[in-house]
Amino acid sequence: MCSQRYSSFPSTRLRRLRSREYIRRLVRENNLLPSDMVAPMFLQEGKNVKEVIPSMPGVYRLSIDLAIQEIKALSSKGVPAVALFPSVPDRLKSSGGDESYNSAGLIQNAIKRIKEVIPEIGIISDVALDPYTTHGHDGLINEDGDILNDETIEILVRQSISQAEAGIDIIAPSDMMDGRVAAIRAALDSRGFQEVKILAYSAKYSSAFYGPFRDAIGSAKNIGPQGKKSYQMDPGNSREAIREVALDIAEGADMVMVKPGMPYLDIITRIKEEFGMPTFAYQVSGEYSMIKAASENGWLDEKSAVLESLLCFKRAGADGVLSYFTKDVIDWLHES
Ligand code: PBG
Repeated sequence: MCSQRYSSFPSTRLRRLRSREYIRRLVRENNLLPSDMVAPMFLQEGKNVKEVIPSMPGVYRLSIDLAIQEIKALSSKGVPAVALFPSVPDRLKSSGGDESYNSAGLIQNAIKRIKEVIPEIGIISDVALDPYTTHGHDGLINEDGDILNDETIEILVRQSISQAEAGIDIIAPSDMMDGRVAAIRAALDSRGFQEVKILAYSAKYSSAFYGPFRDAIGSAKNIGPQGKKSYQMDPGNSREAIREVALDIAEGADMVMVKPGMPYLDIITRIKEEFGMPTFAYQVSGEYSMIKAASENGWLDEKSAVLESLLCFKRAGADGVLSYFTKDVIDWLHES
């Protein structure tokens, strides 16, 4: 069988198309472009503040003024959108996460100010309570520590409305509560925010790779031994991801996301093939820190490793990728 199938050797030589850079470029099936990149950014209060995040070398918590400078640069180099995450001081955290819908809160202010100065950039904001809760969970909990799904949705809706009023372009619910996309869509529409888009973190897994992010926003402290397993997905499941995405689409999601990225490329492919929806992937904090740490030790070549990892997201079927490497990636892409 095999010998028959490949009997055209030596007239067929697949290496011919790999021989030089020009021909490799010409036949490449997938390419990474600046327009594929979304930059996640951590924000904090204050002016001219740039705080180091020890577990994410090269990533900072920025005050809004400094974030605006960075977003201007990203936008001028062709990055279509940024995703904002707040680092909220402990004094504003509560068990109910009420700061999440403060119309004068950090994220709401950031949205307003970025829109004023850089109207052309798309702004994505997270909808979930973890930056705002003392316990670090994405939802409200009862005395036993169980997550209250439907009560949480009421807060998420308020959070979404406050972001919409501030001028958000894309709302990204990352909380994994059942039914939240429908509730958010209905609330937005009833208030005239039909144009606000929903990018649903549909297949979000309960992952160890979020560790550095939780350092960055200070939500790691009291999550408890169960972590977020009662709402984020089990890493062993992929058929369930299809059900999650199907529900979010039915509820009104415009775009869907898989998270984390690299260990979940199979999920991206399945979802893209099944639904053909605009599908995004999040190269999460732990993925960033792994590549960064290995590069800083001289064990990996950073540029090649990063560009390869991102191209593989495209090959898997992602339309775009959220990556903490975005700033460097854009410069590397413009160089070549
Ligand atoms: C929280 C949220 C998380 C991330 C994005 N939104 C962390 C979590 O679920 O604990 C992780 C992103 C990253 O690790 O880079 N709603």
